[in-house]
Amino acid sequence: MSILSLKNIHKSYSQGSSTLSILKDLELEVNQGEIVAITGQSGAGKSSLLAIMSGIDRPDSGQIIVGTTHLSSLNENELTQFRGKNIGIVFQQFHLVPHLTALENVMLPLEIAGDKRAEEKARQSLLNVGLEARSNHFPSQLSGGECQRVAIARAFTTEPEFLLADEPSGSLDTATGSQVMDLLFNEVKRRGMTLVIVTHSEDLALKCSRQFKLSQGKLIESIRPPESIKGNL
Ligand SMILES: Nc1ncnc2c1ncn2[C@@H]1O[C@H](COP(=O)(O)OP(=O)(O)O)[C@@H](O)[C@H]1O
Ligand SMILES: [Mg+2]
Repeated sequence: MSILSLKNIHKSYSQGSSTLSILKDLELEVNQGEIVAITGQSGAGKSSLLAIMSGIDRPDSGQIIVGTTHLSSLNENELTQFRGKNIGIVFQQFHLVPHLTALENVMLPLEIAGDKRAEEKARQSLLNVGLEARSNHFPSQLSGGECQRVAIARAFTTEPEFLLADEPSGSLDTATGSQVMDLLFNEVKRRGMTLVIVTHSEDLALKCSRQFKLSQGKLIESIRPPESIKGNL
């Protein structure tokens, strides 16, 4: 079942008198439960694409369908509500609120959604990422890896079906990045969620079920030989 469908997506930015065309007639279909990697050079438009998938930004033209909802049919308020309920997002720079504790950061999306069990659910989410002992720490008192685990707990806490991650290991050292990504992937698989992840890491991309490269405004899928053939190459 398709959980995300992008059709004929175009996006350009105006720079003074000229126009920078970033996404050109881009197409993508993601099925429920898939883990999709997107790679591409810096400036290729990966973050712009994730912003469009999540409805943070609008394309110039084209359709985005998440589940059965056409994002273009929603106004800004409806989009914010839809995203809060259905889409979790993890960023490279964590995007935690600095004056809130780890627990309060994780509670935030639940409180915005008016969930009466916000604290109980947020505590469980922190437990799932192994950070229950850090609940009352502020982001400045946590390591990069711990901050990203808080951000992951926050993204999961509303139990969205669909997760977007924009270079989630990009600010972490290799060992920490790999640990935190294992945690992310395990949690995604355990919950049967769908993940679209932008990464520069070849290793991480190879752990995904499908790999795409964003180039010249389009997504090109890499076709990998089946494991059985690969051994003989
Ligand atoms: N709001 C914006 N206004 C103008 N140009 C932008 C804006 N956002 C991104 N760009 C430009 O679009 C291109 C793609 O950016 P981005 O999506 O961040 O790429 P990536 O994430 O692949 O590095 C870059 O050249 C960037 O400068
Ligand atoms: Mg980017």
